[in-house]
Formats: sequence, structure tokens, C-alpha cells
Amino acid sequence: MSRINKRFPSIPHMKAKARWRIPGFAWDYMTGGIGLEDNVRRNADDLQKIQFMPRYLSEAQQPDVATAIFGQTLAAPFGVAPVGLAGLQWPGCEPPIASAARQHNILHVLSTHATQSLETMKTHSGPVGWFQLYPPRDAAMETDMIDRARRAGYDVLVVTVDIPGVTRRDKDIRNGLSVPPNFDAHTVLHAAMRPHWLLRLARHGIPHFENLTPYAPKGATTKELYDFLGSVLSNHITAERFRQIRDQWPGKLVVKGVLDPEEAATYMALGADGIIVSNHGGRQLDAAPSSVSMLPHVRKRLGPDALVMVDGGVRSGLDIARMIALGADYVFLGRPFIFSVAAIGDDGPVHLIDVLKQELRGTMWQLGCPRLGDLHGFLHQPEKARHA
Ligand SMILES: Cc1cc2nc3c(=O)[nH]c(=O)nc-3n(C[C@H](O)[C@H](O)[C@H](O)COP(=O)(O)O)c2cc1C
Repeated sequence: MSRINKRFPSIPHMKAKARWRIPGFAWDYMTGGIGLEDNVRRNADDLQKIQFMPRYLSEAQQPDVATAIFGQTLAAPFGVAPVGLAGLQWPGCEPPIASAARQHNILHVLSTHATQSLETMKTHSGPVGWFQLYPPRDAAMETDMIDRARRAGYDVLVVTVDIPGVTRRDKDIRNGLSVPPNFDAHTVLHAAMRPHWLLRLARHGIPHFENLTPYAPKGATTKELYDFLGSVLSNHITAERFRQIRDQWPGKLVVKGVLDPEEAATYMALGADGIIVSNHGGRQLDAAPSSVSMLPHVRKRLGPDALVMVDGGVRSGLDIARMIALGADYVFLGRPFIFSVAAIGDDGPVHLIDVLKQELRGTMWQLGCPRLGDLHGFLHQPEKARHA
């Protein structure tokens, strides 16, 4: 058994170590949610309530976890969700995460708010790389970003719709978090206690929103830049705006951040090729339902053939199995990839993917379920069983 495996057998061990390596302001930004963080907890708690019934009188073969999305064969039904400002949470973490996804042949979605450019990152993610777009207010900027993504070789565009404006998160306000980071006494104190992070920062430089800075006013002060970045978002996506993006993007288009089944159906009618059921990891609306609780309703509304994906609170291969049993074709994880690289180093994401694959296979083997598509039949609903 490898040393890494012994020290970090699962995500909670990676998270515990990462906690001691990431400065408080960056840790709060990554792990935090909005308000009282009920939505963050609900994502995880609702998942843990999902039970399976194992069946041992079976001739189950070795579980097969490979899948295909948009005709592309992938080694596993889970991938990397877009995480903005990843380079602040762990400087230089974006390339090793993308390379691990490519090495393992699982999907990688790059954020608009990445701290490396979409062009550079495509050289790391290769054929498994998708690009996530926050539709900017400015039409010319939108057209240019869509064009850049196409020229860089992305085939799939993920349009995130659940940030209509700048989000107020208490911890970030208290920490004075800004982009690029404003190194005041408070931030410097946090950073001084995390030498690994500081060394990485010295090697990789101060993180910036690399995909957006080309559009920022030249010679802008930090404050002006921050205001500009805030003004880039700040809008709901109307059907009209969505159609414009659909018309401009020649490849497959996925909508991320939908919870309401009716809205999911509307996006599909407007030309989306798939939906990611998500509440942005509990970072936008504290009273929102968990992703897992809405997933079966979205699946039911869109029917068996629609591409339905999900994220939110997934922390093990068992959780991935739960999401698939409830109707997901593919499952994304956000924060755990940062935990893995902060705890372990650049080999962390490869290890994390290994762990998740083993846990997923182990779950299916224990259930006696050889195929992902059969997981639904192993769901156990205690209430129904009692009244049967
Ligand atoms: C620090 C952080 C930054 C994020 N940035 C983005 C982003 O730029 N674009 C986006 O579509 N989603 C973003 N998300 C949401 C994730 O893509 C994903 O929906 C969420 O993290 C899933 O929950 P999990 O972290 O519990 O796995 C971010 C999430 C976190 C934690």
C-alpha cells in the first residue's frame, strides 16, 4: 500500500491536512457558503440519507464504471467542477488538477474565473477539458470569450446561470477578501502561518482572473479592477441572452446551476444539450434545496434520454453512486480537488481520482450491481418498505 494511500485513504483525511496548509482567508473563501451555510450542510446531509439495499444472491461481475458523454468515452462517471480563484486557494493548483483529469480520462471544467488562461489550461486538460462561461454583461466581451474558447479547442461550453450578481458572503467580508488579494495585516498574518502556501505563492505569483484581465481598463488600480470584475456579472440571464449564446456557440452547450425542473425543461427547449443540477456548492442562496433532493425531479421532468449531471456535497464514491442511482449521468466535485492538491501536492488529484474510483467500484461490488445504469434498482426507501 502506498504511503499516500495510507495517509490519505479518503477525502476527509485530505481536507483535514489541507486545513493546516491553506491560510484562513482562502480556506474560508473555498469551504464557506452563503448566510448560515445551511445550504452547504443540506447538500451533504441529504446525500447521507440515501440508502442502498445490497443483494448477495447474485452473479454480479466486476463493476464497470466507464461511461460516455456526448459520444466521448470516459473512464469514470465523475469529474472536476469549475472552481474560480483556485490559484488563491492553492497557488499553481490548476494545471495538476487538469492533468490528473486528462491522465484518468475524466471531465474537467475550467472556470471563467480561473487564475490561468483558458488557452493555457486547454494544453493541460486536452480532450477532457470543457470551458465554463459566466455570461458577461458586455456583448462584445461575451462574443470574444466564446470565440477564444472555440479557438482554444473546447468542444463543450458550460453556461453558469446561478450568479446574477456579486454575492455577499460574511466570512469573505470579514476577511477583507479581494481580487487580486489585498495583503493587509490580517491577510499577511493568515499567510505567515502557512509556509507551504507562501512558498507556492512565491513560485507561482499573485493570482489574477487571467481570463478577464484582458478586458479590464488598462492601468486600473486594484480597487478599479475589483469594481470592474463585479460589474462583469450582475445580471440575470434572459431567454433572449441565452439564445444569443446558443447561436454563437457551435458545439455542445450545458447549463449549470439549475434546481427547478421546469426551468431545466425551458433551457432544454431553448437549445441546451444538458443540465448540471447545482446550487453552486451552497454559495448563493442559503434557503435553496440540496442538489440531490432536486435531481430526481429534474430527471423525471426531462425524461430518460436527456443529459442530466449534478454537483454539490459529493465526498466519496458512495456519494457518486447515490447521485447516479437518483438519475445523474455524470457527477462533479468542486472543493475536494483543492483539498487533494493542498494536502498531498501535485500528485494529490491523481490519488483522489483513484480513491473515488475504488470507492465507487467497491460500493457497486458490495451491492451486487455490475452497471452504473442498474444502481437505481438498489435504492432503499425505508418508509416505503415499512408500508409495503
Ligand atoms: C471556491 C469555489 C469557487 C467556485 N467557482 C465557480 C466558478 O467559477 N464557476 C462555476 O460555475 N462554479 C463555481 N463554483 C461552484 C462549483 O462549480 C460547484 O458547483 C460546487 O463547488 C460543487 O460543490 P462541492 O464543492 O460541494 O463539490 C465554485 C465553488 C467553490 C467552492
